[in-house]
Amino acid sequence: MQYLLETKGLTKVYRETGENLEILKNVNFQLDEGCIAVLTGASGSGKSTFLNIVGALDKPTAGSVFFNGKEMSKFSRREVNRFHRKNLGFMFQFHHLLSEFTALENVMMPAGIDRRNESESRKRALELLDVVGLSERTKHLPRELSGGERQRVALARALMNSPGLIIADEPSGNLDEKNATTLRSLILELNKKFRQAFLIATHDAQIAEIATHRWVVAHGNISAYQ
Ligand SMILES: Nc1ncnc2c1ncn2[C@@H]1O[C@H](COP(=O)(O)OP(=O)(O)O)[C@@H](O)[C@H]1O
Ligand SMILES: [Mg+2]
Repeated sequence: MQYLLETKGLTKVYRETGENLEILKNVNFQLDEGCIAVLTGASGSGKSTFLNIVGALDKPTAGSVFFNGKEMSKFSRREVNRFHRKNLGFMFQFHHLLSEFTALENVMMPAGIDRRNESESRKRALELLDVVGLSERTKHLPRELSGGERQRVALARALMNSPGLIIADEPSGNLDEKNATTLRSLILELNKKFRQAFLIATHDAQIAEIATHRWVVAHGNISAYQ
């Protein structure tokens, strides 16, 4: 059985001032294509640590991460970068949009790195901005958008390269209830229409409701729950 994402014996230890902080202990996690997996757990339990490792932004102390059956630690730095652009989209609590660029340019950014055909990229970025309900805001700079709109631009950007998986770390953590609801509906719609897979760390009980799979992070373990 090949999973979209799988970890085996994943362990992360931070070494702080001579003390070892074991944040993840021997974590075995699986995620299938087309799923919305949600990670909950107290603040400081290790959710971001886990997402950063499976997103290849950080390295595990021990254990392995497999994406479509391929072991990521066997990749060279260059392969990891390429893998990133082709397979992963990211969303964070704060949008991380580039402030000097318009919504459209921000969405196009991941394609730009791959030097894809510019007019093709523009067309796709415009379609994605339409999907997230921002056709009227394509020329706005991030500071000219509301918090909810910025997060939707970040979602469109995460979708730009048609990634197999979008990794989202508290994507609604900074939104009011109305905007959080809009974001949740979009995630659900993208999942239903395009089988877009998501791995989301969240405190938002309503995001947990739309999840197909739920996991809780506690005491270094990640366990599935219903
Ligand atoms: N770079 C680091 N060095 C040392 N400790 C860290 C580092 N990053 C996170 N931690 C610690 O690891 C624990 C888990 O953090 P984190 O993964 O951010 O939790 P969560 O996202 O669930 O709130 C926390 O106790 C945090 O202080
Ligand atoms: Mg976190």
